[in-house]
Order: sequence, then structure tokens, then C-alpha cells
Amino acid sequence: MKIVLLADTHLTAGSLVRGIDPIARLNLCVAAIQKLVPDADLCVLMGDNVENGSEDGYRALLECLKPLKMPIRFLAGNHDDRNTLLKVMPELDRDQGGYIQSSLETKREVLLFLDTAKSGENVGDYCEEKLTWLKEKLKDAGQKPVYIFMHHPPFKTGFWNDHSMVRDAAEFLAVVTAAGNVRHLFLGHTHRASSGSWNGLTWTTMHGSCYANDFELLPAKPNYRAGPADIGILLLNGNESVLHYQDVLGIHPLIEYSGKSIRESQ
Ligand SMILES: [Fe+2]
Repeated sequence: MKIVLLADTHLTAGSLVRGIDPIARLNLCVAAIQKLVPDADLCVLMGDNVENGSEDGYRALLECLKPLKMPIRFLAGNHDDRNTLLKVMPELDRDQGGYIQSSLETKREVLLFLDTAKSGENVGDYCEEKLTWLKEKLKDAGQKPVYIFMHHPPFKTGFWNDHSMVRDAAEFLAVVTAAGNVRHLFLGHTHRASSGSWNGLTWTTMHGSCYANDFELLPAKPNYRAGPADIGILLLNGNESVLHYQDVLGIHPLIEYSGKSIRESQ
């Protein structure tokens, strides 16, 4: 299965975000998808789909995504507004509590799309109601490998935004580890590509398409960079997964196979 990941698009109806035009960035992502993986089975927007939860932001987002022919799943992030997102996209799947959570069972794996947003707060949330849904889905998956997609990491990464990760994630960890079938967590929110493991669970994050977090570990305050801006190309095959990052800003020229001309051209 081939899945395209778009993270932290922070779309607006035209205004800049920290000096960056998020529409132009998303258009670059869509062009890259059309060029590199037009046959992808699925596209996942990893949350912070818009900058300020506005209706016109979501409408601009849908307009940008129009060229994509594959199904699209949307996660909710802290910059999203769940009610407005559902107003613009009423067809999105919800759990019994009204949260934007859904599952997708394929021949070889189960994909779970979690809602970690908490209205009016930046901090991530995975409350009892959401956990009940997750427990059921993990049980239903049985022996099939499960891949989880969620906006907020349930752990810290050493950056300034650690304060806004999923609060009280112990119960989430207990549920996931008890199920024993979760293979990997795919995350947004960090605006930085990283990977690691957390209590035996492996995970990856992405830069996303808007601004990036500069590399500065705590106690540094936030500093942002205009790039990289990446899309993720995720290849899933049962127990095997590979995530390729592709920078869409195109700043690195292709080089000859021999590599001979690199030094000569500097
Ligand atoms: Fe974000």
C-alpha cells in the first residue's frame, strides 16, 4: 500500500504564515505527488490542516487538494477547529463521541486515524471517550499489524513545543502496549523530521509543508526556518513499513550518475 502524508499544511485563504505562503507550499506538495506518486492509494493530512480553524481556510485547502484523485483522510490538530472542519467536510467519519476518528482495514494491515485535538487548546488530548474507541479498534484488528496516525505525539522530543504533546499519555500507552499489535506511530505537530522509539513503540514525525522548527533543543525558545518542506511517501506491506521524505522546495539539483561534475561546478 502506498500512502502520501502531508503534515502541518497550516492553510489560510491567502494570508502568509510566518512569512510563508501556505497555499503555494501545498501546491508544490500536490505537484510533487502528481509527479512522483499519482497512483498512491491514500493521502493523509496529519493535522494543523489550516492555520486558524477558519472556514475559508478549509475551503482553500480543498481547492488545493482537488487535483488529487486518491481518497484523503484528515486528522485534527491544535490549529484546526473540529466543528468548522466538519461543517466544510460533513462526510468525514466520526466516532461515537463525535471525534474525527476512523479506521481503514486493508488486506494486510489496519490503519487507525486518531483525533488528539482539544477545543481551544494547543495541548494534545486523548480522553477516556477516545480511548474507548481505540480499545475497540485494536481488539477488532486482532493479529493484523496496526499503524496509528495522530497529530500530537504522546511523548516529548526535546523541543520548545514539548509542553503541548498529548497530556497524560500513560493510559494511551497502556492501551496500545496491551493490544500488542501496533507497529508504528506516524505523527505531525513537531514541524521537524525525526524518528525514535517510546516504550518499545517506534515513531516518525515530519517537517510538514509550511514552516519548519529549527534544530534547537530545550531550553531554547522557538526559532523557525522556511524549510525543508516535505511530503511523506509511506510504503506499507503488512509488518513492513518504509517512510520516504521528499523535500518539495527543489533546492538540490540532480547530479550526474558519475558524480564527476560536483566539485567542478562548485
Ligand atoms: Fe503545526
